[in-house]
Amino acid sequence: MSDVDKGNVAQAENASTKPRRRGCLGHCARFWWAYLIALIVVIVVVVPVILLVAVPKIAQQKLDEAELFLDGLTVTETTPTRMIMSINSTIKTDGSVHADIAAFEGIMYLEDLEPHTPFAKIQFPATTSAALQTVNVTQTLDIEDLAALTTFNTWLANNESVRVTVQGDTTVRVKGIPRDYGVTFKKTLTMTGLNKLAGTRVEPTWISLTPDENGNNFRANVFIPNPSVVSFELGNITFTNYLLGKEVGTIFLDNITLRPGINEHPMRATIENGPVIAALGAKPYCEQEGVLPFVFSGKSVVNHGEPLPYFADALATFNQTTEIPIGAQAKKDMNVTIPCGGLGGNNEH
Ligand SMILES: *[C@@H]1O[C@H](CO)[C@@H](O)[C@H](O)[C@H]1NC(C)=O
Ligand SMILES: *[C@@H]1O[C@H](CO)[C@@H](O)[C@H](O)[C@H]1NC(C)=O
Ligand SMILES: *[C@@H]1O[C@H](CO)[C@@H](O)[C@H](O)[C@H]1NC(C)=O
Ligand SMILES: *[C@@H]1O[C@H](CO)[C@@H](O)[C@H](O)[C@H]1NC(C)=O
Ligand SMILES: *[C@@H]1O[C@H](CO)[C@@H](O)[C@H](O)[C@H]1NC(C)=O
Ligand SMILES: *[C@@H]1O[C@H](CO)[C@@H](O)[C@H](O)[C@H]1NC(C)=O
Ligand SMILES: *[C@@H]1O[C@H](CO)[C@@H](O)[C@H](O)[C@H]1NC(C)=O
Repeated sequence: MSDVDKGNVAQAENASTKPRRRGCLGHCARFWWAYLIALIVVIVVVVPVILLVAVPKIAQQKLDEAELFLDGLTVTETTPTRMIMSINSTIKTDGSVHADIAAFEGIMYLEDLEPHTPFAKIQFPATTSAALQTVNVTQTLDIEDLAALTTFNTWLANNESVRVTVQGDTTVRVKGIPRDYGVTFKKTLTMTGLNKLAGTRVEPTWISLTPDENGNNFRANVFIPNPSVVSFELGNITFTNYLLGKEVGTIFLDNITLRPGINEHPMRATIENGPVIAALGAKPYCEQEGVLPFVFSGKSVVNHGEPLPYFADALATFNQTTEIPIGAQAKKDMNVTIPCGGLGGNNEH
């Protein structure tokens, strides 16, 4: 600055202070030390409070407000000790805070079953706080707690819906602040369950009194609804088959992966002839064209020769009934119609 400029500034200052003698400049000049202390207090106390308390609190609050949606989950290459798990999910936030969330390991447990025992661990990738973001993960899931995984599968198989919590500790970095803040990611999802495979339909394609080369005397197409977003590679599964409270045979579904939606799959079975013929000739079935209420319950799940108890035990926890038109198929394949009272005429019971 030139001397001339300095003089002008000084003049200008004098001019502005003259009319207001107790104006800011005089006051500020006299109490500069008080302002300095206030500034130091702000820097020493308020800024750290914001950085250490307010920002992490807001970061945690924003994370808590975010919503997690499960769009799809598949388990493949299922073995007794591990499987491949893929998850497609979406995180929705209001997008008001710009932050990066570090990758972390999350545990999953059933929200409505105490104690909260994890049945799976997921490696979440790093994410941002964008308003809408898809998080897709594919990983190997090592089965660390078989009982907890079986319980989860049991709940998912039995119930119309299941609440699952995903929880993990991670850090968040807010844009403009070069610090990592510890936060907890905890979200409870409501997953649609399999509802005991309700609505399963069986359309017979062949029945016989004498078994085929596999020992089967019944073949059909089965339609199994899976209302969940989960796809399960099961492998070869069998069901125990009951008729009127008594075990009458075994149902086989080979190479099956249960996907979301209606699963059409070939089915074969070995069923005792005696109880079926007796039921066809008994009331009320003989009056309903031989539609019989078969009950099935999970017996075994074997994939590539290895038993998968976390599926088998879950499928064994419930009975489901399906009405099968046996009478019509017997007429078609064997040209027999069993009248009330049975073929012999007086078998009614
Ligand atoms: C995830 O989405 C991709 C792309 O749409 C799809 O190919 C994949 O099957 C989905 N996976 C799951 C587990 O839903
Ligand atoms: C994640 O999966 C969804 C389908 O659920 C798909 O639309 C999206 O493209 C996938 N995103 C990535 C990054 O693979
Ligand atoms: C889910 O199913 C299991 C097993 O049948 C049952 O014990 C549990 O109470 C059910 N939970 C809910 C929330 O429906
Ligand atoms: C299914 O029904 C059969 C025959 O009534 C019965 O013996 C069995 O215990 C039932 N299983 C389950 C899991 O309820
Ligand atoms: C099941 O899959 C195996 C290969 O994984 C194949 O060899 C076999 O023929 C399949 N069986 C049926 C009944 O589809
Ligand atoms: C199912 O069993 C058949 C023979 O019983 C076998 O050839 C096939 O590989 C099995 N499939 C799976 C997926 O284990
Ligand atoms: C079916 O059986 C009846 C007698 O029970 C016989 O009259 C009829 O020809 C048979 N039909 C066929 C297609 O075999």
